[in-house]
Amino acid sequence: MKIFIDTANIDEIRQANDWGILDGVTTNPSLVAKEKDKGKDFKAIVKEICEIVHGDISAEVVATKYEDILHEGRILAKIHKNVVVKVPLTPDGLKAVKTLKAEGIRTNVTLCFSANQALLAAKAGAYIISPFIGRLDDAGHDGIELVEEIREIYDNYEFETKILVASIRNPVHVKQAAMIGADIATIPFKVIEQLYRHPLTDAGLKQFLDDWAKLGQQIK
Ligand code: G3P
Repeated sequence: MKIFIDTANIDEIRQANDWGILDGVTTNPSLVAKEKDKGKDFKAIVKEICEIVHGDISAEVVATKYEDILHEGRILAKIHKNVVVKVPLTPDGLKAVKTLKAEGIRTNVTLCFSANQALLAAKAGAYIISPFIGRLDDAGHDGIELVEEIREIYDNYEFETKILVASIRNPVHVKQAAMIGADIATIPFKVIEQLYRHPLTDAGLKQFLDDWAKLGQQIK
């Protein structure tokens, strides 16, 4: 499973990239608006991210009408070859997905909350589908169950659309996504940090170092 970071924060992206486990980045308008340098041109932010991480970088359109989505999608796709254009799961959005695909532009269909929506996105030719599992959990549904349904449907018909699990809130979500066979998980920085941690790792390391210190040796 590929690991993407779900942020528009350049410092977080640099740090996660330095750890050597990062395959890509997803952004959305809310994440961009959260940043302190939100006055910075969005295209410049996307370009900077593409220069740091050499993988798929999702950048979202804010248009909602077919022609406008195409216009913005083409602009975003020109920023860098790794840009994947994020498009909302609406009739206009999926129509634009089909047109953009014919032009060789890859899309990430976002705001997916049902298996039927995912089916339509695949039929339209989406490169990525993004089910939002945390928001489903928040609404009293089972977000991870949706990922299982999409996996089954895509495997039944050999759709090539990649399943990107989004709206991840905790390490359990990441493990569940990997066990189901999701292609990608996009994870907030704080949750990526949590993936490394285990109290027994910390206690075990302390014990090893304390015991070694008693020897008074060095590895040279
Ligand atoms: O990038 C889209 C998605 O991951 C948003 O997550 O936490 O706002 O539901 P959240």
